[in-house]
Amino acid sequence: MFPQQGKAVVVAVVVSHVLLIAGKGLAGGVPAVIMFGDSTADTGNNNFIQTMARGNYPPYGRDFAGGLATGRFSNGRLSVDFVSEALGLPPAVPAYLDPNRTIHDLASGVSFASAGTGLDNVTAQILSAMTLTQQIEHLRQYKEKLRWGKGEAAANHIISQALYIFSVGTSDFLHNYFVFPIRGDRFSLPRYEVYLADAAAEAVRAVHRLGGRRVKFVGLPPLRAPPVGRRRCAPCTGWAVAG
Ligand SMILES: *[C@@H]1O[C@H](CO)[C@@H](O)[C@H](O)[C@H]1NC(C)=O
Ligand SMILES: *[C@@H]1O[C@H](CO)[C@@H](O)[C@H](O)[C@H]1NC(C)=O
Repeated sequence: MFPQQGKAVVVAVVVSHVLLIAGKGLAGGVPAVIMFGDSTADTGNNNFIQTMARGNYPPYGRDFAGGLATGRFSNGRLSVDFVSEALGLPPAVPAYLDPNRTIHDLASGVSFASAGTGLDNVTAQILSAMTLTQQIEHLRQYKEKLRWGKGEAAANHIISQALYIFSVGTSDFLHNYFVFPIRGDRFSLPRYEVYLADAAAEAVRAVHRLGGRRVKFVGLPPLRAPPVGRRRCAPCTGWAVAG
């Protein structure tokens, strides 16, 4: 029922972009990869909230270490895990809400993402996912926990030098705009795209206010690529939303 969301495409795009910036601006090293977004970035948070959008059963996780369905909407790792590994950080990014993770586990990378969420708060409501606003509130908490656990200087270093990646937006179309009339009645497609772009800009500003400086937004894959897109996205024929 939930999308693979063109996983291979997303992996290739994210990894190549990050390696590109790793070769340039990130020469000083990245202490942590910090993720926001939807199922393309949720490494298990939805296991710990009340939602139907969970990837904690087979065949999810079939090719993950130990064949474990961790909550990732993937047979194996997500693009964020590959990005983390490519930057010399852990090969699997932990989920913020996992109660077994200490702040020390999370200091070298964390995912705040929640499968089913969108840039639009209404999208998150449809599947009871965490909104981007809630995810950024968790970043604020995380920053406090880092201060307590690691000290002020280390916390500031992690927060200012981390690579923040947003991977979100497909659900706004595939679970919201093209399915329910709530948004379609109010916005034409081009106006909805502007609304989403404004929400994206606001999310980036919120991370900046908390001290983040290296922010990357993943482009959307062609919406008709995943099976759910083929079913729901008839209006997408002939075009793909570019990131
Ligand atoms: C936390 O760790 C304990 C002991 O290893 C395990 O039994 C439990 O299932 C874990 N909880 C979660 C939510 O992973
Ligand atoms: C989502 O909700 C939060 C608070 O409830 C609000 O601050 C934020 O502006 C909303 N985002 C959008 C895109 O409407």
